[in-house]
Amino acid sequence: MASKKSVKLKGPKIVVEPPGPKTRAMLKRKERSVTDGIKIGLPAALEYAEGPFMRDVDGNVYLDFTVGIGVHNCGHRPAEMVKACKDQLDKFIHICFMVSPYESYIKLAEEMTRICPGKLTKSIFLNSGSEAVENALKIARSYTKKKWVVSYRSSFHGRTFMDISLTGKEKPYREGFHPLMPYVQHVDFAYCYRCPLNLEHPSCGLACVESIRTAIETSPLADDVCAFVGEPVQGEGGFIPPPPGYWEKIREICDDNGIVLIDDEVQTGFGRTGKMFGIQNWNVVPDLLVSGKGLSLGMPLGGVTGKEEIMASPGPASLGGTFGGNPVCCAGALESIKLTKKALPNTKMIHKVEKKRLNEWKKEFEIVGDVRGLGAMMGIELVKTKAGKEPIPEIARNIQLNCHKKGLYILTAGSFGNVIRLHPPLVIQQDLLEKGLGIIESAIAEESKKAGL
Ligand SMILES: Cc1ncc(COP(=O)(O)O)c(C=O)c1O
Repeated sequence: MASKKSVKLKGPKIVVEPPGPKTRAMLKRKERSVTDGIKIGLPAALEYAEGPFMRDVDGNVYLDFTVGIGVHNCGHRPAEMVKACKDQLDKFIHICFMVSPYESYIKLAEEMTRICPGKLTKSIFLNSGSEAVENALKIARSYTKKKWVVSYRSSFHGRTFMDISLTGKEKPYREGFHPLMPYVQHVDFAYCYRCPLNLEHPSCGLACVESIRTAIETSPLADDVCAFVGEPVQGEGGFIPPPPGYWEKIREICDDNGIVLIDDEVQTGFGRTGKMFGIQNWNVVPDLLVSGKGLSLGMPLGGVTGKEEIMASPGPASLGGTFGGNPVCCAGALESIKLTKKALPNTKMIHKVEKKRLNEWKKEFEIVGDVRGLGAMMGIELVKTKAGKEPIPEIARNIQLNCHKKGLYILTAGSFGNVIRLHPPLVIQQDLLEKGLGIIESAIAEESKKAGL
């Protein structure tokens, strides 16, 4: 008899309302043994995952539109990638690249140069997106010898001290951890739905970029900014794509002021926005490109890939880490990149189907205030009324839980926690995508009715 684990998953299928008894028991153990600083988003303990589906310990099968927070772009455990990792495990697991070089690390660095925009010719690999952002800043500092770093108020760049200093959102990322790193200046992103300048695109003429220029060119920042860090499309900030022409103007400011432009592609990279990298939706080449998440489809890996002269600036032995660029992770990443290239064309179908459906919801439901996004990175901003735009995070959360009970995993995001974000696997078939969207639609209808909106 085939073991339970080797059965092909079909779903979504709910056999017991989550959280089922086995999940509840595990959550109790979690309460006792795991820090309260980690909060569980959805109440189902995972046992098995394959392709677009996940099965919990109680036997429920879910369709996954979170993909491990934007990681499994080619679905869970693609066979080619699992094989590549197993093959490497059979050779050696770890030696540390600082002790002895090995093929998968160097091959991955060469591949990054091929797939990155422009001429980004040198890489370093780390264990996570957070560590990669941190390293990009060290490199920018050593290259420019300047102090200040500019980032966005509604950004997210990871969990280390430097990363939370760059990240603008106080709760839950920064609160309780002050004092943070000095010499970080936050500026406003082009969040057109809630324009910080109360203007409208395109008549605004991208005035928000001019205010960034003013901040950068005025004391104390003037002539002393080493790096400008941004996500091409904001992820945790609420799936916000800036308008056409935006990144070109930011590039100009960086060029005019000798600032290293750091492109944080941890969430937008590897096909999510319909291009290999999010920044390729604009005509811009960054100085340093930071990768993570979809780089290795679930094996812990982050990277910085950049221009020759900038990447050459840190002193010998000044960068590295015991596990950074682990051989199994790099072997997995090489296969992931091949799979991602094959999956990319499918993002056109995903975008078309989602855009049509989300725009219908915007007309149909008062609480759907804005729908937006690029490629397979689309979000739905929920508000009490279209006119007032009052954020309703509690209803976004109820929709998320309602979807979960129906067998669909989704995430929320945004400065107010009121954005539903869609991360279907890039390889998803249209019928399954429609099924997932159908679940979201019924959850929006039910939860807005319950709230009397
Ligand atoms: C844009 C961005 N940068 C950095 C990070 C941090 O990556 P990691 O969680 O792998 O440390 C994230 C994680 O969500 C991210 O979205």
